[in-house]
Amino acid sequence: MKKDRAMYKKVPAMSPTIVHDYLREVGRAWCQQGVAIELGSWLGATAMPLLEGLVEAGYDRPFYAYDRWEANKAEVQKAAIGGVHVHVGQNLLPICKDNLLQIYGNLRMYRGTIPAILKNYPGDPIEICIFDAPKNNPVFSGAIERLSPYWIPGVTVLGLLDYYFYKNRSGEKRSESLAPVRFIESHPNSFTKLAEWPGQTSSVFFRYEKKL
Ligand SMILES: C[S@@+](CC[C@H](N)C(=O)[O-])C[C@H]1O[C@@H](n2cnc3c(N)ncnc32)[C@H](O)[C@@H]1O
Repeated sequence: MKKDRAMYKKVPAMSPTIVHDYLREVGRAWCQQGVAIELGSWLGATAMPLLEGLVEAGYDRPFYAYDRWEANKAEVQKAAIGGVHVHVGQNLLPICKDNLLQIYGNLRMYRGTIPAILKNYPGDPIEICIFDAPKNNPVFSGAIERLSPYWIPGVTVLGLLDYYFYKNRSGEKRSESLAPVRFIESHPNSFTKLAEWPGQTSSVFFRYEKKL
């Protein structure tokens, strides 16, 4: 289940087209109850279709994006495959911002380490919550702890883009990557599954139904 094989328009992506298409639908279904937030935006390839859908739905609130936006060697290589040339250590926030600004202007982009950087989250109710950075603990549980108080029962869509990531791993790494699965399975009444693409991508989307 490789994720990093697509482009979103001209933007290198670490997620496949089916997930981009679904994110656009999630944005289109925005029902004016809360904001959208993404952890792990990289160059913007998942935030862009989500924002396209949100704009169609009349979204008029800030869009929150959190990432360290500091290119490592693997990211340099993945970006280059998509024709974007960056160097190790480069601040990628300006590239991501330029991409998102093509679609939507009210951006709140925060550069730093998750979950610590989430301390600055102002507490708007969250209608759409996309995790593409947190997959292991303590990062995953730290992000959940910080953001879940703002989820709206019966409304919030939680996208865990690395949910099945553990299937590609073994030993201790597999166990570490099970953090999202353990979280969802330990709250069986709080989530219903909305979408998944078995064998194609690690991503799973849930509706938050009842308070944790
Ligand atoms: C899989 S990539 C995101 C890809 C993007 N959503 C897409 O599909 O093209 C993960 C991103 O999360 C960021 N990231 C991972 N762990 C992080 C952490 N603990 N704090 C901040 N950013 C983190 C990385 O910098 C990277 O940009």
